[in-house]
Amino acid sequence: MPGFLLGDVFPNFEAETTIGKIKLHDFLGNSWGVLFSHPKDFTPVCTTELACAAKISDEFKKRGVKMIALSIDSVEDHRSWSEDVMAFNSETTGSPLPFPIIADDKRELSLQLGMLDPDEKDKDGVPLTARCVFVIGPDKRLKLSILYPATTGRNFNELLRVIDSLQLTAQKKVATPVDWKPGDKVMVIPSLSDAEAAALFPSGVTTKEVPSGKKYLRYTQP
Ligand code: BEZ
Repeated sequence: MPGFLLGDVFPNFEAETTIGKIKLHDFLGNSWGVLFSHPKDFTPVCTTELACAAKISDEFKKRGVKMIALSIDSVEDHRSWSEDVMAFNSETTGSPLPFPIIADDKRELSLQLGMLDPDEKDKDGVPLTARCVFVIGPDKRLKLSILYPATTGRNFNELLRVIDSLQLTAQKKVATPVDWKPGDKVMVIPSLSDAEAAALFPSGVTTKEVPSGKKYLRYTQP
């Protein structure tokens, strides 16, 4: 388990990456950030994930989110693997991966951040990294974390959807319901009274009736 929870300041680690040495907080500046880990370079599922992340990197940029990947190999391996990833995307030779990859060949960061997957080991029996995602806010605090095993690839479009929700709910006292996407109705958070909700949401609040008679399903347009 990582030694930090939602709301904690994300560790300001130093790391070697494909763009040189970074300190995480300096790399992020005032942006949002997404850090996603991979079990190993030159592996099939990871390659499809990185290729998808590269393909939709402009969507992260549009939302002011800096991307950074991590895998437990060297900078040299990452650079060579990046070429495969871009070729997988049918990019012209030489197009760079649009985000850096952290080299964690000693697994120090993976250990510190609770990323190792005990069920997936390399040929020497050493655990590989799981597929973790950390979304970090401009205040450098952890806003979301997800953890998939090495054998299950992630959905990077879902990451964009949750980032849309995180950015909206950081600004407004709303919560986003199941499968929400931008433009859909949102829900008024339970801690707001009806009077407060009426004042905060001039577009109006509608309440769905339920058998309990409790008026907790309150919708509005943000
Ligand atoms: C992969 O990326 O394909 C992978 C890596 C480690 C374990 C299983 C799959």
